[in-house]
Amino acid sequence: MNKLIVSLLLTVGISGIAHAAGDATAGQAKAAVCGACHGPDGNSMAPNFPKLAGQGERYLNKQLHDIKSGKRTVLEMTGLLTNLSDQDLADIAAYFASQKGSVGAADPKVVSRGEALFRGGDLAKGLPACTGCHSPNGAGNAAAGFPHLGGQHAQYVAKQLTDFRKEEGGRTNDGDTKTMQTIAKRLSDEDIAAVSSYIQGLH
Ligand code: HEC
Ligand code: HEC
Repeated sequence: MNKLIVSLLLTVGISGIAHAAGDATAGQAKAAVCGACHGPDGNSMAPNFPKLAGQGERYLNKQLHDIKSGKRTVLEMTGLLTNLSDQDLADIAAYFASQKGSVGAADPKVVSRGEALFRGGDLAKGLPACTGCHSPNGAGNAAAGFPHLGGQHAQYVAKQLTDFRKEEGGRTNDGDTKTMQTIAKRLSDEDIAAVSSYIQGLH
């Protein structure tokens, strides 16, 4: 009986890490084509292209698989991932995760509202604090796959929150629990603008 439990645990443990481990050095060369939009080190200059530098490896790998399979639509990346293997995607994720993310600035006019939402949520709206999953400094939780947000472009963050909120044609790849879709539906346009600006300056 004990043996059976041990072997079950081993099987679960092994399948849990079945994804290929990424090699950041190999990933750098494979990521060359991505630099045009995301920046060579993953710190993109354009506010509609997300920064990938310092993003969690597990989260990056999941997004790459979702974008490749069409579960998450990114028109700008159409065809770019088609010929990349699971190993290529793992290597690219490891490369961007190993880079240091840059930080922007928050708009002083909305920063206090954004900070209150990020740190405290909104009890009346049933909105949890963002810090619970994305951590107080916005670093996220790499092991759990909760993305790093701190320093991300406000324009990109606002688009994601708006997309998570959409009933149709939005971003629906946040898993069976639909955590971000549920949260985003409770955010007003003003909430989104304030919290996105706060995130851009957060580190
Ligand atoms: C022509 C521009 C362009 C190129 C080239 C490009 N991307 Fe993107 N990528 C985007 C845009 C735009 C988005 C965000 C779309 C949205 O708003 O949801 C994105 C999103 C992503 C995301 C999700 C980020 C997040 O925080 O969820 C990842 C990961 C990513 N790209 C990786 C790559 C990789 C790896 C390559 C190279 C193989 C690449 N991209 C090439 C434009 C590009
Ligand atoms: C219970 C955990 C949880 C809470 C609380 C939470 N998030 Fe998230 N968030 C996630 C997860 C998990 C994802 C990744 C979904 C996926 O895999 O596509 C995510 C993704 C995001 C993204 C997309 C990041 C990117 O790079 O594209 C943004 C933006 C975001 N969350 C903002 C917020 C904000 C703002 C709040 C607070 C109002 C918040 N989140 C609260 C778990 C959470």
